[in-house]
Amino acid sequence: MSAFQPNLHIVSMDKLLIQGGVPLSGEIRISGAKNAALPILCAGLLTESTLTLTNVPHLHDVTTMLKLLGQMGVQVSLDEKNGLSLGGGNIHNPLAPYEMVKTMRASILVLGPLLARCGEARVSLPGGCAIGSRPVDLHIKGLQAMGAEIDIEHGYIVAHAKRLKGARIFMDLVSVTGTENLMMAAALADGVTVIENAAREPEVVDLAVCLNAMGARVEGAGGDIITIHGVEKLHGASHHVIPDRIETGTYLVAAAACGGRVKVKDTRHDTLDAVLEKLREAGAHITLGEDWVEIERSGPLKAVNIRTAPHPAFPTDMQAQFMALNCIADGSATIIETIFENRFMHVQELIRLGASIETQGNTAVVRGVPRLDGAIVMATDLRASASLVIAGLVAQGETTVERIYHIDRGYECIEEKLSQLGARIKRVH
Ligand code: UD1
Repeated sequence: MSAFQPNLHIVSMDKLLIQGGVPLSGEIRISGAKNAALPILCAGLLTESTLTLTNVPHLHDVTTMLKLLGQMGVQVSLDEKNGLSLGGGNIHNPLAPYEMVKTMRASILVLGPLLARCGEARVSLPGGCAIGSRPVDLHIKGLQAMGAEIDIEHGYIVAHAKRLKGARIFMDLVSVTGTENLMMAAALADGVTVIENAAREPEVVDLAVCLNAMGARVEGAGGDIITIHGVEKLHGASHHVIPDRIETGTYLVAAAACGGRVKVKDTRHDTLDAVLEKLREAGAHITLGEDWVEIERSGPLKAVNIRTAPHPAFPTDMQAQFMALNCIADGSATIIETIFENRFMHVQELIRLGASIETQGNTAVVRGVPRLDGAIVMATDLRASASLVIAGLVAQGETTVERIYHIDRGYECIEEKLSQLGARIKRVH
């Protein structure tokens, strides 16, 4: 229970100390997907009945979302056996304040559900963030196409709609949370909504499965056209959140980088095709089971080129981890980031560990070096932090990763899971 209730105003100054150079071996369990859990928690706003969720990861971002929902009037309860329950019977405050949205951009996911359920919403604009400007224009345009009146007042999106109407929405960029927001809004709209050029991410599919269990009529999720037949009301349901494919990929890259043999359990390899392909190309041997992946790497590591793009292509959330792998691989690799501007903040830190990387615009060229050397480095965003941990695990000597509150936003018990694999890593306060 306590994992969901840390005081959000205290930013942890914890560090990770890593003694690198140890191969990894053993088994770990993968947690529920952060990026599936966050929109699904917001789906709790769409019904006055109870939504019960299992496999919700214990992460800071989840705590932030629960606090936000609680402030609006959602009753949150936790039961070790039955998971997390959300009761949306009394939504009295359809507001997402700046203080919360600025710490977690995914707070924008309350906009669609609030508008559909309450007919109004006030959600702070997210503002800039470490990995680029990340606007929310597609969310707003989509809701306007469904008949919402939206104004920007004092930094807030102020939205009204008696009842949203089904519409055909073409998204000129693939947006994951944009697709999710519109899907949730359309679930309670009057008529049929068609979202074209929709995001195809597994987390979008998981949200659709949950919405359908609540009585929604969502078809086509996982493809680029999603059709939603609006219904009057949604009812309660139970849903098990899918495993986290980015957490899975991060541990697999760590094992490939350090060498050894690691089995990750309770995961879904069908959500990881592009990542597994790159790991094979890097020289790892992969074995797949029904809900597990085993990786073994004993031969040399080969540099692999990466180009990020929307699912099912290579995920931007795995770019930084593969950059760390390429730092110590044989040969040179080109990494092209096409989703976010300014998502190379880990580069300067990796260079502090002895990596050879040059960047120009959205392209980085990594020349593999025989070894990295431990140093003090600073985490700048969630996935950048994961890449520094991987680099620390392969570096000779001690690496200190500072500002790991970024890691706690997205990785459940990272030091415990890595210790279970034999890594010498500890958290210091
Ligand atoms: C989600 C994920 C994040 C991941 C990202 C891309 C969650 C909670 N977060 O973020 O981990 O890195 O997908 O896979 O699921 N854009 C616009 N206008 C908009 C919306 C987006 O221009 O209205 C742009 C963004 O700036 C970015 C691109 O579209 O360049 C894709 O962003 P998007 O898919 O929306 O990312 P998120 O949903 O925020």
